[in-house]
Amino acid sequence: MDPRPIGVFDSGLGGLTAVRALRRILPEENLIYFGDTARVPYGSRSRETLLRYSRQDVRFLRSFDIKAIVIACGTVSTTSLASLCAENDLPIIGVVAPTCQRALAVSREGRIGLIATPASVRSGAYEACLKAQEPSCAVFSAACPLFVPLVENGRYRRGDIVIETVAREYLQPLIDQGIDTLILGCTHYPLLTDVLSDICGPDVTLVSAGEESAFALKRTLRAMDARADPSQSGSAEFFVSDRTEGFEALASVFLEEDLHHVVRQIDIDRY
Ligand code: DGL
Repeated sequence: MDPRPIGVFDSGLGGLTAVRALRRILPEENLIYFGDTARVPYGSRSRETLLRYSRQDVRFLRSFDIKAIVIACGTVSTTSLASLCAENDLPIIGVVAPTCQRALAVSREGRIGLIATPASVRSGAYEACLKAQEPSCAVFSAACPLFVPLVENGRYRRGDIVIETVAREYLQPLIDQGIDTLILGCTHYPLLTDVLSDICGPDVTLVSAGEESAFALKRTLRAMDARADPSQSGSAEFFVSDRTEGFEALASVFLEEDLHHVVRQIDIDRY
C-alpha cells in the first residue's frame, strides 16, 4: 500500500471534472490538484509554450512526495505527454490512450468523432493513437474553440439556445460522416453531455476523457501495488496560479458539488 498522493493538473479549473471521476473511481486516494489559472486557456497555444508550461506544472506537483501524475488537460496530453514521461521517473497518465482504447471498444463501425481544443486537434494525437490500435477506423475531428468560454460562463445546460446553436454547428459535419462514437477530448466537455447527446442522438456513444484516465490510473496503481488503504477516504488539496477569489463558484460547476476546501495560490514562475 502507498498513501502518497496523486498529482493532478490542468490549465485551469476544468480538470476538476477529472478530479470528480478520480474521487468516484479511486475514493481512497489522496489528491493534489494544480490549476494554472493565471495562464489559462492552453487550448490555443503553441506546442513549445505548452511544453514549457506543463514542465513547470509537473515541477510544482513534484515538490510534493507524489506517486503518480494525471494530466487532466486534453491539450497538454495531446502535445506534451511523451516529453513529460521521458523526463520524469514516475507514472504520468494522459487522457489520449485510455480514451482511444475505450472509444474503439464501444464503436460499432469504427467511425469515431473527436471534439477538442484547436491545439489538441492540430496535434493529431487522437487520430494517431486510434489508427495505431485499429488501422481501419475512420476519425473525424472538429476543433471547438467556443465551448470552453461558453461552459465557463454557465452556458452548458440543455435548452440554452447559445450552446445548442454552437454545438450543432460544430457537430453537424461529424454527424454527416456517420460517426457512431464521439470522444469528448477536453476537460470542459463532460458538462455538455446532455446537449451533445441530444444533438448526436441515441446511436452515437459519448466517451469522456477524464473518466477513462481515472480507470487507467487505477490499473497502473494496481500493477505497481501502490493503491492507498481502501478503508480510508482520500483527501484533496487545491492550488491555483492566480487569485483564489471566485474559485469555489467555478470549481463547484466542474466538480458538480459544493467545494469546501481551502485553495492556495502559488507562483508558478518559481518552478
Ligand atoms: N483544459 C483544456 C483541455 O482540456 C481546456 C481549457 C484550455 O484551453 O486551457 O484541453
